[in-house]
Amino acid sequence: MPDNLLEVRVKSNYTYKISKLRNNTMNIRTETFGITNEGTPVQLFILENSQGMQVKITDYGATITSIITPDKNGKSGDVVLGFSDVAGYQSEAYLESGPYFGAIVGRYGNRIAQGKFTLDGETYSLATNNGPNHLHGGIKGFDKVVWAAQPLPDQNALQLTYISPDGEEGYPGNLTTTVTYTLTEDNALRIDYQAITDKATPINLTNHSYFNLAAGQAKDVLEHQVMLAADRYTVVDATLIPTGELRPVAGSTMDFSQPTAIGERIAQVEGGYDHNYVLNRVNGNLQLAATVLEPTSGRLLEVFTTEPGIQFYSGNFLDGTLTGKNNTNYPQYYGFCLETQHFPDSPNQPEFPTTILQPGETYSTSTSYKFSIQDQQL
Ligand code: BGC
Repeated sequence: MPDNLLEVRVKSNYTYKISKLRNNTMNIRTETFGITNEGTPVQLFILENSQGMQVKITDYGATITSIITPDKNGKSGDVVLGFSDVAGYQSEAYLESGPYFGAIVGRYGNRIAQGKFTLDGETYSLATNNGPNHLHGGIKGFDKVVWAAQPLPDQNALQLTYISPDGEEGYPGNLTTTVTYTLTEDNALRIDYQAITDKATPINLTNHSYFNLAAGQAKDVLEHQVMLAADRYTVVDATLIPTGELRPVAGSTMDFSQPTAIGERIAQVEGGYDHNYVLNRVNGNLQLAATVLEPTSGRLLEVFTTEPGIQFYSGNFLDGTLTGKNNTNYPQYYGFCLETQHFPDSPNQPEFPTTILQPGETYSTSTSYKFSIQDQQL
């Protein structure tokens, strides 16, 4: 008997098997995901729940490679961009375009101006891998390393740990990071991030999944209706570094306080949406940050987070050079990201909430991506 079934004996004559979960224990399957260019074998871990949702995660970059959810007709589809083996994430074309599909980005997700910051009187220099700036942890960030994976079947979770040595990519301190992905019975994929360090260091971890809730049934995400629980966003310069101004969105093309199709005003936004929104936080608990409805499939995504910001990126730099799993080509606007985070360039912006982790403290943030069906306009 599979160990997620409970066996009930009734009056010793009959045995009923019911699919009630015993302690919520789910079987977590493991498959090979190939061998990295450096010769390390990597794995794929498959989390499932009893509602028909399935999530695949590889230890390469702690990357989500697939999320399968049903549409309003009960038909399953894959709602994230990615590849079916590690070779896809290490191809020349992929590294050249640098989309970070589904990965955990760190130590610092988003940009640090000129790749420089000063901490406790010392100036640190990081790689400038995005024009003049540092982006998503540098040349070999947390998305390009192999994490130690530990399935936790009794929580239907996968725990991944990476120890980043002092000086890696120019950052100070030995930093131990643990990311736990949990698939719940109410179709939420929860991500819990924890880290400790032995020297003060900036840290800003996020997940970089690209969603397409039409699961390949539409040419892009421009008809997805997005709501962001944010009255302000961080204004950026031409290299996408915040100027420091937190500008109200009201009445502008940046306003997603009511559900609005991504494509409705995108032509008026130079370069497309690639902005950090300042969430209307009331406390540090998990709070609704965003909803996205794909009207044809009825799929609704709700994002909850403890973070103060969310980067809304409309897949502007996708350009059709990459073809992912199921032979699906990824042109511009084929996926959108909702990267929960602290604000870009916080180490150089004293007015922004701090991203400095001190020895003795524990970095701890959580984000949940919850899927459901809404068979009508929001
Ligand atoms: C950034 C984009 C970048 C993308 C892929 C997003 O988080 O804001 O500017 O192109 O990541 O690297």
